[in-house]
Amino acid sequence: MKDMKIRLDYNNMLYEFVGKHGITLADIDTISDKIAAAKKAMVDKRSAMAWRDLPYNQDDVVGNLLSYAQEMLPKIDSLVVFGIGGSALGPLAVQQAINGAFWNESPALRRGAPRLYIADNIDPETIARLLDLVDFERTLFSVVSKSGSTSETMSQFMIIKDLLEAKIGKEKTRELLVCTTSESEGNLIKIARAEDYKTFYIPNGVGGRFSQLCPVGLLPAAFCGIDIKALLAGAAYMDELCAVDDIFQNPAYMYAILHYIAMSKNMNVSVMMPYVDSLKYISDWYAQLWAESLGKKYDNIGNIVNVGPTPVKALGATDQHSQVQLYTEGPFDKVVVLMGTDSYKADISIPKIFEDMPSLGFLGGATLSELLVAEQEATEYALQKSGKPNMTITLPEVSEHSIGQVLYMFEVATAFCGELMDIDAFDQPGVEEGKNATYALFGRPGYEDKKAELDAAPAKNPRFIT
Ligand code: PA5
Repeated sequence: MKDMKIRLDYNNMLYEFVGKHGITLADIDTISDKIAAAKKAMVDKRSAMAWRDLPYNQDDVVGNLLSYAQEMLPKIDSLVVFGIGGSALGPLAVQQAINGAFWNESPALRRGAPRLYIADNIDPETIARLLDLVDFERTLFSVVSKSGSTSETMSQFMIIKDLLEAKIGKEKTRELLVCTTSESEGNLIKIARAEDYKTFYIPNGVGGRFSQLCPVGLLPAAFCGIDIKALLAGAAYMDELCAVDDIFQNPAYMYAILHYIAMSKNMNVSVMMPYVDSLKYISDWYAQLWAESLGKKYDNIGNIVNVGPTPVKALGATDQHSQVQLYTEGPFDKVVVLMGTDSYKADISIPKIFEDMPSLGFLGGATLSELLVAEQEATEYALQKSGKPNMTITLPEVSEHSIGQVLYMFEVATAFCGELMDIDAFDQPGVEEGKNATYALFGRPGYEDKKAELDAAPAKNPRFIT
């Protein structure tokens, strides 16, 4: 099992490696009471964090998902997921991690599994092109919304229900629409029951951004040949590692502690920079988890604090030629998290040509993975040399097991960081405000006061529009 463990190397977060912007053991010691309180809270509040049970309590759900996939796979060529935020970013991250960027174009990779399209926006141009692309008779549309009231997802649902019924009739629509939502609340479950749609549930206490390991993420994964049992096993394994009392050996707690102390030293930006293309959307998923959970106006006793780290998505080596200049020479306001793997799934040798040209000849005979790993090490070195705190997460390989670990580690780190910051990591009042303003602008009944509030906002001055 040990060789499947992901590793967090935080040497370069420490004073002895990066100098005065680094963290000392004394800094950690100074907040030992806070750390102890956060550890206790993680135990005391565990039963309220239903997402922590997902690795253990879903045997029936997994069985149902796998038999549903088996029943539907011969009937479909495409799976379209309609959802946004936590209902889309996890599925996207896991699909890219395990199946890569060219899944849809490659029948050899898919081996009978459907193309996967995750429609997480409502730009009409994109939706129109997607609807032009798919064969309505052979596409499963999966609508994912915990609240069942998110305007974007519910608009997509209304469009597709209407279109499908017109094109293929009500009976077949019933077969090709599946809903994942709360079992007890919201319009989507009411409609799904009334229309007799196939339904999977997002358990109570599992918020959107913590929902990848329930049917939100498991359904598309099961359809695309991803081993969902191994994903959950990886999460369960990480849960054990996160139970280790020694913070120096607990990857999630240490990740959170280092970020918390870094924030107290005005390093509020958290850059996530994988050197593995397949981990690219892990950064997107992480950005939502970290930002929406930790960016808060109030602390737990109602003081206005306006706190939170700013996540930034980057990709190595691509962004070496875009952002690394800023990371090495710019302000000391960041923690850079590099991600790598011990084993790329494929490799390509660079041919030994142009040997008479020293600036090209040195590349010949190496592989692309060797070059990429060297570039990752070089960036780590450049950051360390310029005194910029950074850490590295290494996956032994990108597999369901290691991705389960990554997802669960970041979820626990987020919850633990929320405890250290003394804020509620599980609400999102700032997002709700935007949702409510949209309802008001669209004239939703019950939002008249909000509409009046919007109408009373200061009018734009044309002088400042050029
Ligand atoms: O993390 C969250 O709670 C949010 O990002 C939600 O996932 C997002 O707003 C979509 O909400 P819903 O699943 O209710 O449609």
